[in-house]
Amino acid sequence: MPSLDQALRAALHNRQDLITELHQQGTDCYRLFHGSQEGAGGLTIDRYGEQLLVQTFHQPLSRDDLLAAHALICSHLNQPLLLVYNDRSQGNSRIDRTDPVYQAEPAALADLVGHEWGLNYRVRGRHAGQDPLLFLDLRNARGWIKAHSAGQSVLNLFAYTCGVGLSAAAGGAREVVNLDFAEGNLAVGRENGALNPQLAPMQFVQSDYFPAIRQLAGLPITARRGHKLPPYPRLEQRQFDLVLLDPPAWAKSAFGTVDLLRDYQSLLKPAILATADNGVLICCNNLAKVAMADWREQVLRCADKLGRPVRDCQVLPPAADFPSHDGQPPLKTLILQF
Ligand SMILES: C[S@@+](CC[C@H](N)C(=O)[O-])C[C@H]1O[C@@H](n2cnc3c(N)ncnc32)[C@H](O)[C@@H]1O
Repeated sequence: MPSLDQALRAALHNRQDLITELHQQGTDCYRLFHGSQEGAGGLTIDRYGEQLLVQTFHQPLSRDDLLAAHALICSHLNQPLLLVYNDRSQGNSRIDRTDPVYQAEPAALADLVGHEWGLNYRVRGRHAGQDPLLFLDLRNARGWIKAHSAGQSVLNLFAYTCGVGLSAAAGGAREVVNLDFAEGNLAVGRENGALNPQLAPMQFVQSDYFPAIRQLAGLPITARRGHKLPPYPRLEQRQFDLVLLDPPAWAKSAFGTVDLLRDYQSLLKPAILATADNGVLICCNNLAKVAMADWREQVLRCADKLGRPVRDCQVLPPAADFPSHDGQPPLKTLILQF
């Protein structure tokens, strides 16, 4: 087993060209160490603008290893990054010991701004949720959307902090609708919009996915047997030119269950129906145990069964800061052209 220091040096070396390219394209948010593939399972190190976010998922990192990693990265990038360490190894816990190394300086926990594809994004080291406010493995999809959304109507499903919507707006979309049931996530999406005042304003719909997409698709909304449906916002049936479907691995609500392993179809079917003829649907599956080949087949079969055969299907892998030795990255993305 190489030491963490050796593994980190190798990871930085392997990213040399990528980092230069990212800086040139206006991106300072990227993964510097993807532990599961680079020699330290359960450890990730990400740069978000001025902030260095270290996260552990299996066991905490020792004080010495943490400080050594921080020093090595700052010297490699020639940049004094602000350290935030979030240990997520015990359920919801995040280490906040009295040792200031684990606490993070106030400046590191302040509201900061990171950049991706020339856009500004809110960066916050700790907030009500567990995940960072921008998922870095979706960067290539956001870049694709920015490059292909001129004049399009765009629907961003499971929008989280609306990075996809922002990219579409930056690409010249004529309309951008972000949909998510969490007001706190959409609030960060609004902040992201405000951080890019040159862009056309986006729309935000706070709703559960199932009633919203089924109304857009013209499908009935049914209650589970013996359950009364909670209220939901009313939407007109309509289609969009470009739709992004990036659901969480699993989530249950009064309207249905998001389950990427057992039932991708119930998410996909209405999303296809809400995509215009000649439109594009970008769909994702971030569950590591689902193989690309099986999932791709399921997706294409679902489109066929709906009488909406896919004319072209392109795989969009994450960038090289998310290496995968077996060529099977957890985040799988398909660009479906109808
Ligand atoms: C993994 S994130 C999606 C990432 C996002 N597509 C992005 O570009 O960063 C999952 C999001 O789904 C939302 N969500 C989960 N279940 C939902 C549901 N039933 N209806 C609407 N939103 C839901 C959560 O609030 C969260 O913002």
